[in-house]
Amino acid sequence: MTQDELKKAAALAALDYVLEGAIIGVGTGSTVNHFIDGLGGIKARITGAVSSSEASSARLRALGIPLVDLAEVDELPVYVDGADEIDGGFSMIKGGGGALTREKIVAAVSRRFVCICDASKQVATLGRFPLPVEVIPMAARHVARELAALGGQPKLREGFVTDNGNLILDVHGLAIAEPAKLEARINQIVGVVTNGLFAQRGADVLLLAAPEGVRREQR
Ligand code: A5P
Repeated sequence: MTQDELKKAAALAALDYVLEGAIIGVGTGSTVNHFIDGLGGIKARITGAVSSSEASSARLRALGIPLVDLAEVDELPVYVDGADEIDGGFSMIKGGGGALTREKIVAAVSRRFVCICDASKQVATLGRFPLPVEVIPMAARHVARELAALGGQPKLREGFVTDNGNLILDVHGLAIAEPAKLEARINQIVGVVTNGLFAQRGADVLLLAAPEGVRREQR
């Protein structure tokens, strides 16, 4: 099976978590694109979707799935999203696609985070994948210096602007032993909008696709 076929298998397994009549929180990325396509097939059963990026909104719209503004919603039952890495405690690195801020907001108002991944995303220790940090443009040099002081090697994501008009620093060389602690520490740097550690609010369910099948793990 190719990696994309594994992503699709995990994504389609997440359709089981879509509740009748619900508004679904929808993440961003190539794995989630398969989920959105699957959602298109059952759209009559849901009220709509809250999207975490312009890219996912466009795909949802193209399939005729109603978009719901998060400002009109207090809580979502389920949020489905991928990850760049996930560890044994269900902490994640996200933001490879640059949508981390809206993803973190939608995740924060969701009762259940269903993470859909192929098995290559599961790691013992987070950090081999560079940690994305969204920054206010004028603060980029300052934040980069602070991140270097924490032991990372930040690199500006060239030619990339987030949906919120900000920049991304990808931080290389971190071995993240305590994800929730580092998440909080990076959030304290002035000029940081969001960092891609999802540890304080990690996943609740992991759907991990391997050639043998999709493994379902619950926290
Ligand atoms: C988007 O900003 C990310 O958080 C994605 O969820 C993550 O990068 C996983 O992407 P793929 O599903 O494309 O691997």
